[in-house]
Amino acid sequence: MSQSDGSGVIRRVVRGVHRRLSRTASYTKKGVRAFVYDRTSTVASLSRDIRLLERRIESLSSQLAYENFGAVDGRTTPGTRTYGTLKPHDITRQPPLGYHSAIEARTIYKPAFWRGINFLFGNAIKGPIVEFGCRTGFTSRCLAEAIVERNLDAKLYLYDSFSGLPEISSFIDQSAPEVREQNVWFDGSMAMPAGTPKAISDSLEEFLAPSRFEIVQGYFSDVLPSRLPKEKISLVHIDCDLYSSTMEVLNALVVADLLQDGCLLYFDDYNCSRANPKYGERRALIEFLGANTHWSASPFISYGWHGQGYILHENI
Ligand SMILES: C[S@@+](CC[C@H](N)C(=O)[O-])C[C@H]1O[C@@H](n2cnc3c(N)ncnc32)[C@H](O)[C@@H]1O
Repeated sequence: MSQSDGSGVIRRVVRGVHRRLSRTASYTKKGVRAFVYDRTSTVASLSRDIRLLERRIESLSSQLAYENFGAVDGRTTPGTRTYGTLKPHDITRQPPLGYHSAIEARTIYKPAFWRGINFLFGNAIKGPIVEFGCRTGFTSRCLAEAIVERNLDAKLYLYDSFSGLPEISSFIDQSAPEVREQNVWFDGSMAMPAGTPKAISDSLEEFLAPSRFEIVQGYFSDVLPSRLPKEKISLVHIDCDLYSSTMEVLNALVVADLLQDGCLLYFDDYNCSRANPKYGERRALIEFLGANTHWSASPFISYGWHGQGYILHENI
């Protein structure tokens, strides 16, 4: 790793830390006051250094993630190419709500998506990958990268109103802690600026041909099932928070006959609402399986504190 890669900065900071620690030790001889004063300033300056280091590590890690992973075995599927460092203004840099940093979120999402794609490869399950709930496109981009990195020949479909949550009219959603107590989910919460679909598209076009993905803007009630893919899907990432939105998605997938044995259903908000099965995505899955008895599901992956992926089984 060269100095310009950032190791120089890290070495400088570590040397500074050593210097300060040895200075602190020698000051102890000068009396308690000097020692206390110096400890305080040392702690302040160490905290600054740690923040600096954290920033460097974050930027180095994302650089490595972007530079080294494009097409892991050197091949690419048609319509893809390797990608470089994510640009500072890229909208898809903004991590999902609740995450401290983009790198923290990446370390959760990328392995979860890789594992899903590996499962699809291993079991020869083909078909588009679909996301419901994109907001800034952070997870959309993670999915797109995973597709390229694993050489998956699948098209990516992305669905969101980009105007935030719809009107919360279901009593089940109105009773959820996020609505009733925390006030984080409300009509229009998480609305994005007008240019968001285009900005996400620009980010993905860096390495995916426009024919390899589609962004569908609109409330699910307006765009489903008519704008769904025409072939059976392989992986669905459901990140739309509400019980009612999740039910709309699952019902639309059944009506359009897009589910297949072995396809993966990821529920990003599975453990929201304190993981209480009375609410949210958990309840939607229970009701969906209760009403569609020819489908059953077994747990596949748990990611972050919030997400849960399932493998869907056809019972007939
Ligand atoms: C938690 S955000 C998604 C976060 C995103 N995956 C990310 O990487 O940041 C939930 C999204 O679901 C969308 N959404 C929820 N219900 C919807 C519905 N019925 N129709 C369209 N979009 C919906 C909201 O607009 C919001 O952008």
